[in-house]
Amino acid sequence: MSLVIAIDGPSGSGKSSASKGVARALGLRYLDTGAMYRAMTWWMLAQGVPVQDAEAVAARAGEPVLECGTDPDAPTIAVDGTDVSGPIRTREVTNAVSAVSAVPAVRERLVRLQREVIGAGGIVVEGRDIGTVVAPDAPVKIYLTASEETRARRRAKDLAADPAATVAVTQAEQARRDRLDSTRTASPLTRADGAHEIDSTELGLTEVVETVVRLAKESTATG
Ligand code: DC
Repeated sequence: MSLVIAIDGPSGSGKSSASKGVARALGLRYLDTGAMYRAMTWWMLAQGVPVQDAEAVAARAGEPVLECGTDPDAPTIAVDGTDVSGPIRTREVTNAVSAVSAVPAVRERLVRLQREVIGAGGIVVEGRDIGTVVAPDAPVKIYLTASEETRARRRAKDLAADPAATVAVTQAEQARRDRLDSTRTASPLTRADGAHEIDSTELGLTEVVETVVRLAKESTATG
């Protein structure tokens, strides 16, 4: 398999910026699997599917057609031909995504799609279960963390346009989502065997990117 870099971790740990930075530095493609779970959730909400009802979600999980663009400078996600890169970042989608992504039928479908996109490799893939389930043979696995407060501050900055998204509200919503994402039965967020843990609380983006690039170069030199 040519190079696959799996980057997992909780929300706000800096996965997206780091993953895009690493892909650019190494000339690789980039896949944001969280955007796929968000797009599925956006579609369920748009269809009026009750997202807390796992059976209702499972029954419709095969319907939306998802397409992902993997350019780290301009990643895109479309559902049934419509670009939903903006709408998938709203708080409504963010607060519903854990319920939808806990449904096994959703995960089976999206993991299959993710493996198709990964193909022969040459890609940085970020998510929650990349090193454990989607690409357990990835030669480089990273588990990126940061303190809960730092992560909430970063998320609140992303949501600056929403006046209700204060740091305190964001921290509470994020803690709830992290709890759901790490305690669900289907592929919970957990550190993969062989993953390098990087705590980004005190690190700048450049330092995180440099650390991952160094690990990737070491793995290609030895592998
Ligand atoms: O990375 P993010 O915050 O955009 O991810 C949104 C949600 O999608 C997250 O709360 C859990 C889910 N997710 C998942 O279950 N598995 C993945 N590989 C990626 C995301």
